[in-house]
Amino acid sequence: MTHKILVIHGPNLNMLGKREPETYGADTLADINAALVRHGQTQDASVTAFQSNMEGEIITKIQQAFGNYDGLIINPAAYTHTSIGIRDAVLLLDMPVVEVHLSNIHKREAFRRHSYLSDVVSGQIVGFGMQGYILALDAILHILKQS
Ligand code: DQA
Repeated sequence: MTHKILVIHGPNLNMLGKREPETYGADTLADINAALVRHGQTQDASVTAFQSNMEGEIITKIQQAFGNYDGLIINPAAYTHTSIGIRDAVLLLDMPVVEVHLSNIHKREAFRRHSYLSDVVSGQIVGFGMQGYILALDAILHILKQS
């Protein structure tokens, strides 16, 4: 059975490649999404990607995942550290959810160390750049195969 996986990218991640490459790497969002789609094809998973700079749009997209997807990969970017709304939307979901950060948020500024999501997701992957998304996809597919 093909698993349907949604990937949500938060604010400023559309600027990857140009944005602080020393922190976030040279890969663009298109590179990341293409790598996820390719990896999904080898694992019988279909990957759909969405990016928004707006909190409400991200919340609506998470709500739409309910009943329509089997798993969610989310990098809420700056909203990680501020958004109870995104946390509450994730709590709606009855599916594996993996939080990804390109950078290791735990070794940066103190305000990045707290995530409103970390205690309501299946797991968090930080600090591995683009590879973190691939690891997240594998983690979700592993959970889905077990259930
Ligand atoms: C980020 C880390 C956040 O603190 C930051 O606001 C981002 C990107 C990451 O992927 O490392 O925009 O989520």
